[in-house]
Amino acid sequence: MPVQEALRIIDEDASGIDRAFRTDVLQGLSQDQKAIPARWFYDERGSELFEEITKLDEYYPTRAETEILKTNGAAFADAIGAGAAVVEFGSGSSAKTPLLLQAIDPAAYVPIDISGDFLRTSSQQLAAKFPAIPVCPVEADFTKKVTMPDAINGMPRLGFFPGSTIGNLVPRTAVDLLREMRETLCDGAGQSAKLLIGMDRVKDTAVLEQAYDDARGVTAAFNINLLHRINRELDGTFDVHDFAHRAIWNDDIARIEMHLEAQRDIAFSVCGSSFTMAKGETIHTENSHKYTRRSANALLLAGGWTPLRHWRDAQDRFMLILAEASPLRMAP
Ligand code: AVJ
Repeated sequence: MPVQEALRIIDEDASGIDRAFRTDVLQGLSQDQKAIPARWFYDERGSELFEEITKLDEYYPTRAETEILKTNGAAFADAIGAGAAVVEFGSGSSAKTPLLLQAIDPAAYVPIDISGDFLRTSSQQLAAKFPAIPVCPVEADFTKKVTMPDAINGMPRLGFFPGSTIGNLVPRTAVDLLREMRETLCDGAGQSAKLLIGMDRVKDTAVLEQAYDDARGVTAAFNINLLHRINRELDGTFDVHDFAHRAIWNDDIARIEMHLEAQRDIAFSVCGSSFTMAKGETIHTENSHKYTRRSANALLLAGGWTPLRHWRDAQDRFMLILAEASPLRMAP
């Protein structure tokens, strides 16, 4: 079946992304604790490096989640049912989506991504693999409610959000996102909606720290690439050699934090604005929250989703959780 032309719901001009990048970087570098949102890692080089990370011995999440998808096909089919419209939040280029589609025999596939080019390529690939499933791509920012294509009206909906991408968000923002996803999928009119979401589990600190600071230095290069991107796109003057990659387990909040640590007192400018950092000071570039079954449930419930089932890999490293949109009704 031919891929439908992407529904485009983007309200920015061509320079929109650049402007958001600039605002985030200038604002983030002006804070006491310097910080830049992790979403800016993914320029072309950053996406390549992340691909490489997923293949590292130390980086288990991608393999663990793939294992869960491969070994529980029948259980997914059972819990989700055939004939759903699968709405994937982001990407769709991975090997994970085909595993899910194969298992549950959906009536349509709706990938949502902010990058139109990426969306077109991945949609074509999936359509070629699953000629019987209509593919209806939507180019949009899924952190806000997204209007669904008419083609899936009346179909039960399954949101798919793999990868533990939710873990990049602090709880407050994660809850906002879960609520927006609920809006997107339920669309007011009481649509039946479920969500299949990947979350990485709390585990041994050494295993976690190695997953984010691998021996070959690929994760370090991924982190440092952000500085190259700022130099190139925002007229930055970073000497990347002044920075070291750090991955630290924050036990109170149960998250890995990635930082770029200044190795000496430095000064630099971005878009003409000047900044200084003292030796040892850091730019906080990523959070990767880890969950227990209970903390995952609490987050989902706060976002309007009732957990139904949890699947884990054989080594208990990762979980895929199926949840359903909680009814809006009185509770004691
Ligand atoms: C894509 C957000 C799931 O947090 O594990 C991998 C990104 N950063 N190594 C993660 C990442 C460093 C990854 N997510």
